[in-house]
Amino acid sequence: MEFRVYDGPFSGIDSWAVIIFCDQSGKPFGDASGLASELAAFVESGEFSKKAGALHFAVAPDGMSAKRILFYGIGENAKPETYRKGAATALKALRDRGITQVALSLSGIESASDQRAAVEGMVLSNYHFTVLRSQRDDLPKLLDKLTIYRDANNEGAEQIQRWQAIAQGTLKARDLCQYPANIMDPTKMAEQSVQWGESCGYSTQILEQTELEKLKMGSLLSVSQGSVKPPKLIVMDYQPAKPSGKTFVFVGKAVTFDSGGLSLKPANSMAEMKGDMGGGAAVIGVMTVLRDAGCPHRVVGLVPAVENMPSGSATRPSDVVTSMSGLTIEINNTDAEGRLILADALTYAARYKPDYVVDFATLTGACLVALGPKVFAVMGNHQPLVDHILEAGKEVDEIFWQLPLVDEYNEMLKSNVADFANVAGSRWGGSITAGLFLQKFAAEYQWAHCDIAATIFDKPDAYRPAGGTGAGVRMAMAMLDRFS
Ligand code: BES
Ligand code: ZN
Ligand code: ZN
Repeated sequence: MEFRVYDGPFSGIDSWAVIIFCDQSGKPFGDASGLASELAAFVESGEFSKKAGALHFAVAPDGMSAKRILFYGIGENAKPETYRKGAATALKALRDRGITQVALSLSGIESASDQRAAVEGMVLSNYHFTVLRSQRDDLPKLLDKLTIYRDANNEGAEQIQRWQAIAQGTLKARDLCQYPANIMDPTKMAEQSVQWGESCGYSTQILEQTELEKLKMGSLLSVSQGSVKPPKLIVMDYQPAKPSGKTFVFVGKAVTFDSGGLSLKPANSMAEMKGDMGGGAAVIGVMTVLRDAGCPHRVVGLVPAVENMPSGSATRPSDVVTSMSGLTIEINNTDAEGRLILADALTYAARYKPDYVVDFATLTGACLVALGPKVFAVMGNHQPLVDHILEAGKEVDEIFWQLPLVDEYNEMLKSNVADFANVAGSRWGGSITAGLFLQKFAAEYQWAHCDIAATIFDKPDAYRPAGGTGAGVRMAMAMLDRFS
């Protein structure tokens, strides 16, 4: 898709259709000279509902390059999420009519966060996952061309380009999650990150099984040993042209399929475990947008990618392994595998002498129970970093909620034979005990952990179809911005 920011005369917008928001009185936003009266006639005739969500499709007046105008009633007290959903809904109406060249007018939208949300709504909703289907005629076409019309009161073109780049990264993360595990395995994830690294300006190094053995990543390897698919540690490195001097490491859990291992999952909750690489997908998605977003920080992405399967070579519940850090772990439940691969990746992260480490992981079902499908859990050993995540989430409508790393709960991870166990003796506080486990491997730096288990798949929404959400990418980019 061609993406353009246009700030010439309104009449010159070179698209088939233009989306213009209207307020609750039916008045179009911004300086759409000549259009207000045309719309006023409709408002008076009672044909155009003033309600939020009202759509009015009109033939563009003479003298305009565009052929059609779609007015969309944004309603009273619109928030950024209202704009995100509104832009998506308006675009859907156009795509359903077979229109593939669309412009969105930002004119008259005052706040930058509302403008941003409207742009995101356009890009995020222009998406479907059809590569595995031979028949796709039932779906509306994707846009060929998206134009954002801005005037002097709107944010600059460069900023608008950044917003679209970040939304594109979210779509890449979605794609990785949509693929089934027979296709999106550790090797494929590694290949994809190498390929995107070449086109998006970061370098990639893939650590193979023998290298992971040399590094003594016994915890990570204990998860992959039951699978015929070899493990990979995907190491991505972005070096900015004008560095800020700060180094961030993002770590993303990528269990390309989590059967539970010998602690096998029940049949009804297994299929969705193709999405257990959502943390890795978010980290790769972030890596793909850093250059285009002009990120001034060095960012290293570490994605341990494995498959968790039961077999004759699989880890047995009660096995003890030695992690790269030297700490020994009694694996009492092979389904608590995410923390095992993250443990070694977090140890590896220390070699970059990072200022901040943030991990993203579909870590616990307990997170879903506690917070439901729209809310991320965050915890960490450095409150200012956690605060930045909470605030960054608010900026982009990805809701994060802090859970406490309650020291006393470390009791629950005690083991009789090893330094500690990978699961607590009781189910209670499962997201917190998982966080406490990770904390033991993150002692050397300032760290936060985002449990994205609940948010990685969701029902369809105004700006995405059912399935992978690409969750986490927008927050991570907003967080990096807060350090600029
Ligand atoms: N990948 C799962 C967590 C998960 C559950 C992600 C639901 C997305 C949706 C994780 O590896 C897991 O199985 N965790 C166990 C931990 C338990 C054995 C302590 C869980 O949450 O049941
Ligand atoms: Zn599991
Ligand atoms: Zn898992």
